[in-house]
Amino acid sequence: MSDTAKEMILVLDFGGQYNQLIARRVRECNVYCEVHPHTLSLEKIREMAPKGVIFTGGPNSVYEKDSALCSKELLEMGVPVLGICYGSQLMAHILGGEVKTAPVSEYGKTEVTVEDTSSLIFKGVEKKTVCWMSHTDYIFRVPDGFHVTASTPVCPAAAMEDASRKLYATQFHPEVMHTVEGKKMLHNFVFEVCGCSGSWRMDSFVVSTVKQLKERIGSGKALCALSGGVDSSVAAVLLSKAIGNQLTCVFVDHGLLRKDEGDQVEAVFGPDGPYDVNFIRVNAKDRFYAKLKGITEPEQKRKIIGEEFIRVFEEEAKKIGKVDYLVQGTIYPDVIESGLGKSAVIKSHHNVGGLPDYVDFKEIVEPLRLLFKDEVREAGRQLGIPDYLVDRQPFPGPGLGIRIIGEVTEEKVKIVQEADAIYREEVAKAGVAKDLGQYFAALTNMRSVGVMGDGRTYDYAIALRAVLTSDFMTAESAQLPWEVLQTVTTRIVNEVKGVNRVLYDCTGKPPATIEFE
Ligand code: XMP
Repeated sequence: MSDTAKEMILVLDFGGQYNQLIARRVRECNVYCEVHPHTLSLEKIREMAPKGVIFTGGPNSVYEKDSALCSKELLEMGVPVLGICYGSQLMAHILGGEVKTAPVSEYGKTEVTVEDTSSLIFKGVEKKTVCWMSHTDYIFRVPDGFHVTASTPVCPAAAMEDASRKLYATQFHPEVMHTVEGKKMLHNFVFEVCGCSGSWRMDSFVVSTVKQLKERIGSGKALCALSGGVDSSVAAVLLSKAIGNQLTCVFVDHGLLRKDEGDQVEAVFGPDGPYDVNFIRVNAKDRFYAKLKGITEPEQKRKIIGEEFIRVFEEEAKKIGKVDYLVQGTIYPDVIESGLGKSAVIKSHHNVGGLPDYVDFKEIVEPLRLLFKDEVREAGRQLGIPDYLVDRQPFPGPGLGIRIIGEVTEEKVKIVQEADAIYREEVAKAGVAKDLGQYFAALTNMRSVGVMGDGRTYDYAIALRAVLTSDFMTAESAQLPWEVLQTVTTRIVNEVKGVNRVLYDCTGKPPATIEFE
């Protein structure tokens, strides 16, 4: 375990929707936290020596045949445990309490009465407080040694505890923002019950990670596929601090990047930049455009771009010769999501992180695999990476290729690059960028009639998209100020040749997706 991870809270995942959110909340307390499946062995848990354990919610009922369980011993180790929703019922069930289907299910905001104001979990919490409930089962009888610490009119044990055994449970979800004082409750668990000190900081992460990478890689050679996005940039800089020019960064410019992006990446990682790394920029635009010629089907475009990317990368890797380590910018949500069940393929994602096993390397290095996106950004700032890279929005691997509906041509790339640059500039100027999950311009495949000067035009329509989202799985269309949209529209039709119409996408996800293809 790393130095910074010494004081950790373990979140055991029983299949709840909010497991990432629990981890986020704990880390917001400056306490390190990891999410693991509920099947994690006791031996492993002992080895991790968590300061506390949190059981998440889950879709099961404790009485179902295949319900997710855990061993009683875990509750007898003397380590504080907080059970949330299903986790609270599980605690009751394992320790001899009784769980039943509630006569009335509770969903949504519910007023909870704190029955025991001396409970450490409710320290500083109002006697009546609004919490988020989402359950059909409930604790009908608390186990011996426990007492009820909070209730609602239909849920007599909305919270229970046995402080002598450091076991706590809430039927509601303290981690969601609708539980008005939920942060305080989790803070209480982490500090008052578990006795954490809150020493987890990004600067300590940076120092200890660089040290570990140095030890691990020694004099070996590492290869990093750099996309110019936040994750791979931060991973590359961490590696460069650890092993300097034993690292080679390969940046494949597929000609589908945002305006000036390739030069910006080169300015940071190239020979004139501040880092002592080998940097290879492959200007592969022509071969990508050639492969995409005549292709209009989105999945086919994605596959072509993904495959061509790999081919270019492979050619470069071969030139470098044998590398020991392949660096990937995998971050924690990727790790958590890939651990969950398989879902339908909506789009074949292409990601520079997803390189296959053709490159001759010994090991994969993923220095960010335990960080959330905002933590990656913070690490980037600590490492002195310029803001324009650190604050960059998510950008898909296939780039503008999937923001141009239909066939990709050089002319269309230019149009969407210019329109997108204007959009980003105006959004930034208006100061509305920080609330947006993602925003960009896309080129529709639609041409329509317009009038400019005294002449008829028959040009493309640009679609502007801006969404509010935290997890990118669902999103709602953002209500950008009308004046901003007007300014952007005027500038795009005036400044970008080939565009005579600008549309705003008001669709959420679902039913649309964030990208157009
Ligand atoms: P969708 O369009 O599926 O996108 O709603 C959700 C998020 O994923 C990003 N995205 C990708 N990222 N490779 C990536 O690295 C891809 O192929 C890819 N496709 C979509 C998209 O920008 C949004 O943030």
